[in-house]
Amino acid sequence: MKIFVTGAAGFIGFHLCKKLISSNYKVIGLDNFNTYYDVSLKNERLNHLYKECKLRKKNNFKIIKGSLEENELISSIFSENNFDFVFHLGAQAGVRYSLENPYAYIDSNIKGFLNILEGCKKNQPKNLIFASSSSVYGGNEKIPFNENDSVDHPVSIYAATKKSNELMAHAYSHLYNLPCTGLRFFTVYGPWGRPDMAPMIFTKSIIEKKPIKIFNNGDMARDFTYINDVIEIMFRFLKKPVQKNKSFDKKNPESSTSWSPYRIFNVGNSKSVKLIDFIQILENEIGEKAIKIFEPMQAGDVKFTSADTSLLDSWIGFKPNTELRVGIKEFVKWYKTYYKH
Ligand SMILES: NC(=O)c1ccc[n+]([C@@H]2O[C@H](COP(=O)([O-])OP(=O)(O)OC[C@H]3O[C@@H](n4cnc5c(N)ncnc54)[C@H](O)[C@@H]3O)[C@@H](O)[C@H]2O)c1
Repeated sequence: MKIFVTGAAGFIGFHLCKKLISSNYKVIGLDNFNTYYDVSLKNERLNHLYKECKLRKKNNFKIIKGSLEENELISSIFSENNFDFVFHLGAQAGVRYSLENPYAYIDSNIKGFLNILEGCKKNQPKNLIFASSSSVYGGNEKIPFNENDSVDHPVSIYAATKKSNELMAHAYSHLYNLPCTGLRFFTVYGPWGRPDMAPMIFTKSIIEKKPIKIFNNGDMARDFTYINDVIEIMFRFLKKPVQKNKSFDKKNPESSTSWSPYRIFNVGNSKSVKLIDFIQILENEIGEKAIKIFEPMQAGDVKFTSADTSLLDSWIGFKPNTELRVGIKEFVKWYKTYYKH
């Protein structure tokens, strides 16, 4: 089977490629190695993937350097390859940066996603699995977040692009019978993680004895999801592509499903952890106390996230379950080795 993974040098894309390569799938990755965060980390992830191939004496991975919004490039990738599955993880990520540079989100996440849909229209993979985000729940206060809740109140352009992706996917699923699965990821963390996210920012500052900023005076909570659980879930979608919902009721429509082959799933740990408790777990693991500076809420941020994962569990028979303490232990171990502390 041949699989296309966009955002292959990114945090989640890298882990997925590693799993697919070691399971003997043929993988073609795409990434533009943009400078949103440290490019050397993206290059190191790529080196690691090539090492994985060498170790297994396999030649089943290739990376294409280019951008999602390059129409001709994406079109030619799909014409030259017959993909069985497409995992679309390439995107301009990050809530806060979307206030600084909103255009980057329209280029990568909207234009780029349209190119992927157009490619899939020609290629007809068994499933297009794409990254959405818990941020689509925006200002909602009903917890846990359920896939059928309204997601009409995003509080950042990033969130608005992710909700747009879900709508665009539905249109293609309906028009071209394209099986589409949107995964709403909830704060994914783990080894090789993203330097712009709290686990990495806090760990770096605590180790370097620098102050950390705690927004909304600490009154925040996140559903932290361990990377290995996320990869297990995506892997299971290879065995269980999404199908039409034969009992879908157009007179009483649910937003997570459709008459066409389209589904949306939360991918979270179903446990919301207070930011202060999260920092304490980090402090215990690192063996240092954090220097805390309390700050007001940042524009674009949401106060808390919490996932209802019953739909996911009923579809693939699995939901994230790694204890935060266990995941953080692995993350800190990796951080100290990688950054030689
Ligand atoms: N990590 C999380 O907690 C989280 C939470 C919710 C949603 N997501 C989504 O999951 C996906 C993967 O996230 P991640 O954490 O691995 O982020 P990441 O930034 O590490 O990975 C994204 C990769 O896409 C590449 N990329 C960006 N724009 C591109 C473009 N126009 N063309 C080609 N490549 C491009 C980047 O270089 C990067 O390597 C993203 O869609 C993100 O929005 C992640």
